[in-house]
Amino acid sequence: MSITILGIESSCDDTSAAVVHDGVLLSNVMAGQEVHRKYGGVVPELASRAHQQHIVPVVDMALREAGVEVPDLDAVAFTRGPGLLGSLLVGSSFAKALALARGIPIIGVNHLMGHVHALFLKGPEHSPSLPFLCMLVSGGHTQLMRVTEPLAMETLGKTIDDAAGEAFDKCAKMMGLPYPGGPVIDRLAQEGDPHRFSFAMPRVEGLDFSFSGLKTSFLYFLRDELKKDADFIGKNQHDLAASLQWTIVEILIQKLILAVEKTGITEVGIAGGVSANSALKEAVRRTGKQKGWKVYIPEPRFTTDNAAMITMTAYFKYLQEQFDDQQITPRARMML
Ligand code: KG4
Ligand code: ZN
Repeated sequence: MSITILGIESSCDDTSAAVVHDGVLLSNVMAGQEVHRKYGGVVPELASRAHQQHIVPVVDMALREAGVEVPDLDAVAFTRGPGLLGSLLVGSSFAKALALARGIPIIGVNHLMGHVHALFLKGPEHSPSLPFLCMLVSGGHTQLMRVTEPLAMETLGKTIDDAAGEAFDKCAKMMGLPYPGGPVIDRLAQEGDPHRFSFAMPRVEGLDFSFSGLKTSFLYFLRDELKKDADFIGKNQHDLAASLQWTIVEILIQKLILAVEKTGITEVGIAGGVSANSALKEAVRRTGKQKGWKVYIPEPRFTTDNAAMITMTAYFKYLQEQFDDQQITPRARMML
């Protein structure tokens, strides 16, 4: 039996649609939202309006690029949550309407599970073997997962305050950089000295993470230095970015090493927006080489929010006949 699924992602500020056929990605179309840039963060009301404008052309393009027509679809998938409710409503309403019109199943997908399934988008020979560990590092979440089956994931530890992406974004904002700050810090850090400045490292037991202490340490450091020199940030942008990035990556890597030690699992992946970070990727590859891990990192286009990963989760759910009915509603908060 062959299975063709259309999936929609609209949890935050990217409208995306993808088509997966028998576990192989045929298309993945994205429309970002420039409208938030001048506000220094995502404005929920503007995000849902932009999703409304983008969803039809994005789905249309995803179907055309895949060479698939609406009657060929076996199911329609959508991100159920977590995310901005108004944004999620656009994707879920569209998916429900299309599925109802065609008389085909709908599949609601947990966005966090979707990020993990980005590791399956390069095809079976490049996907992690089960069981594997996945460190999910995004703008809203930072957690370590043990994956025993494609749909069976156990959280081993998670952040007790901010997410890693949030730490990047909030510290970048303190430096006067545009939103989202993560990629900007990554770029500035390329020419900076990662050991020029040092910031507080958290002391959190076990496999949980914390980033709020680092954020405060960064804020106080900038405040003190700016008193001495009003142009401190401008003069030290690259070293500040590199030192901040080094600290965040160090926090993440230490926990990843501990997770491997505790579980004995050496198939190790990273996923989520922050897994696009060049220093993190380099550190995971280097550590993996030293310690004999097999390392999996998604392609950059599948690290931040995208429908390809959501549709891959839907494919695994389809195989298990995990379908939803028309009463399903989106959820702003959802755990794994
Ligand atoms: O996974 P994602 O697209 O959205 C959530 O589900 O949260 O992640 C977005 C986060 C933002 O915080 C952004 O700054 C961060 O990923 N990010 C990066 C990089 N690219 C995106 N952080 C550090 N370095 C990058 N290259
Ligand atoms: Zn995400």
